[in-house]
Amino acid sequence: MCDSVEQPADLQLVRASYDRVADNYVAMNVGDLVPAPWLRAALGAFAEDVRALGPVLDVGCGPGTVTAHLAGLGLDVSGVDLSPRMIAHARRLHPALRFAIASATDLHLAEASLGGVLGWWSLFNLPRTVLPDVLASFARALVPGGQLLVGTHVGDGDIERTEVYGMPVTWTTHLWQPQQLAGLLSQAGLQPVAELRLPPTPAAPSAPALPAQVVLAARRPS
Ligand SMILES: C[S@@+](CC[C@H](N)C(=O)[O-])C[C@H]1O[C@@H](n2cnc3c(N)ncnc32)[C@H](O)[C@@H]1O
Repeated sequence: MCDSVEQPADLQLVRASYDRVADNYVAMNVGDLVPAPWLRAALGAFAEDVRALGPVLDVGCGPGTVTAHLAGLGLDVSGVDLSPRMIAHARRLHPALRFAIASATDLHLAEASLGGVLGWWSLFNLPRTVLPDVLASFARALVPGGQLLVGTHVGDGDIERTEVYGMPVTWTTHLWQPQQLAGLLSQAGLQPVAELRLPPTPAAPSAPALPAQVVLAARRPS
């Protein structure tokens, strides 16, 4: 069964914005997992749980850093991203892996076709009215026991971003409280597996301050 999700009104602006920041994103090594042992731990547990269940889709994979990390952990993983420039980097940096250009809102995933789905800091641009349907489409695409892993910025309200990674952008960052997001996963029919909360990080010489972050894992009931 396929699914139909409302397309966000700002989708083309978001795509153009990520196209503009993609080169700096790669040059600045944003999303590097080396200095992030707790994130690697979450990815490692996810990989262990879903490895035998089927293919994994990294939705909003950017330049493919996490896709490649999961492939290194033995997963049959591919990536999709809204931004053609991000996908061009992903293909260049990880030529052995499969990547495609697509929006999370337009994937038409087949029912029970995936062992795992990842939304790794890639769903926060989706309008609050759209995210529940996207999560429901991910839930339907999971095999029984398959897992969805979501990481995102924690907070209240929305931030209109006009400059990110040194480039002009036009996008909204929708902040979520962990319990709100857990509620959406439950509404999508998924059962909680794990929740990792990371506190705000103060600014350092080499990195900007970051708000609190959360990683949630949830599974399709067997
Ligand atoms: C902050 S980056 C994270 C990239 C990657 N997951 C990582 O951890 O490095 C957000 C990514 O989500 C992608 N994105 C934003 N909205 C999307 C959508 N509707 N569908 C697919 N990808 C989207 C952007 O193009 C961008 O590559």
